[in-house]
Amino acid sequence: VSLRELNTFGLPAVAHTLVRITDDADVRRMLGHPQIGRAPKLILGGGSNLILTRDPQAVVLRVEVMGRRLVEERPDAWIVEVGAGERWHETVAWTLDQGWPGLENLALIPGSVGAAPVQNIGAYGVELQDRFESLDAVDLVTGRSVTLSAAACAFGYRDSVFKQTGFGGLAGKSLITRVRLKLPRPWQPVIGYLDLERKIAETGVQAPDPRTIFDWICAIRRAKLPDPAEVGNAGSFFKNPVVSPEQCRDIIARDPHIVHYAIDGGRFKLAAGWLIDACGWKGKSIGRAGVYEKQALVLVNRGGASGAEVVTLARAIQESVYGRFGIRLEPEPVVV
Ligand code: EPU
Repeated sequence: VSLRELNTFGLPAVAHTLVRITDDADVRRMLGHPQIGRAPKLILGGGSNLILTRDPQAVVLRVEVMGRRLVEERPDAWIVEVGAGERWHETVAWTLDQGWPGLENLALIPGSVGAAPVQNIGAYGVELQDRFESLDAVDLVTGRSVTLSAAACAFGYRDSVFKQTGFGGLAGKSLITRVRLKLPRPWQPVIGYLDLERKIAETGVQAPDPRTIFDWICAIRRAKLPDPAEVGNAGSFFKNPVVSPEQCRDIIARDPHIVHYAIDGGRFKLAAGWLIDACGWKGKSIGRAGVYEKQALVLVNRGGASGAEVVTLARAIQESVYGRFGIRLEPEPVVV
């Protein structure tokens, strides 16, 4: 099975075996299969956080668990349960249509609902962990179904237990089937992000409703992020690096314009897009892999790129950022 249409970067690769998972029982059936039960597995959701550099030497599990419903209406929140195979953006739009706001800042993020907790998706001041109740997953060794709380998911910045490979980590070991989202009542807007403050100033709308914020987020993203349906990409290619106050002071002394934000623990997050841009990469290409013209943090497929070309470009960027700023950029998507 060709995977080219199944990853948003549009990278060529072939799966020897692809199994479609529509419920927990499908996982157990697959595990009981004499040939594929014990083979290594690669979990594929919307394919928006994946860089395929070769044909996966694993059984590809395509998650297609569907369904969306309100499971609980509490005084302090609506709890909505969504199948891991549903598309994230459509789910955001659906919750707004139903009158359960809270996900509007996370509009237009590509990928599936099951992938959202894996990397704790976040944008414009909201992270998945802020809207998370619990999730169901199936253990890929025992076939047992489990429910995990937020604490068990160990969410961090673009991180969770599902990305961890060490002791206790669940990378490749657990397949998420359903996610329960918690939408707080009463709804409160999150509009502190600079791009949103600009929208308020531009439009004069001081108290935007959820739908207005949704529309603003869509417009902001469309203006600077490529649509994977038109230009292959995997969103931000690197994480924004976190540095100590000393390191930050050092870098500011060398480059006063560097974009940085204070985070908790006295540390600072630097804008990786700014660092890459400052090294002159915006709009550049290596082979058929390129750096997006409007956002240097996004690598794109200029048409027919291979995973190897993307990785070569990423390494060249890492080297030049390290050479100039002494900072190691860490890729955000999973590289296979
Ligand atoms: N910047 C530049 N040049 C560039 C790109 C950015 O100077 O080419 C500067 C901008 O001027 C801005 C700053 O860097 O001051 C930050 O840029 P932006 O607001 O676009 O956000 P980001 O830090 O680059 C992060 C997330 C995005 C998320 C936005 C909005 C990460 C790795 N990325 O990007 O998430 O949409 O904030 O919240 O944290 C994703 O993870 O795939 C993703 C798109």
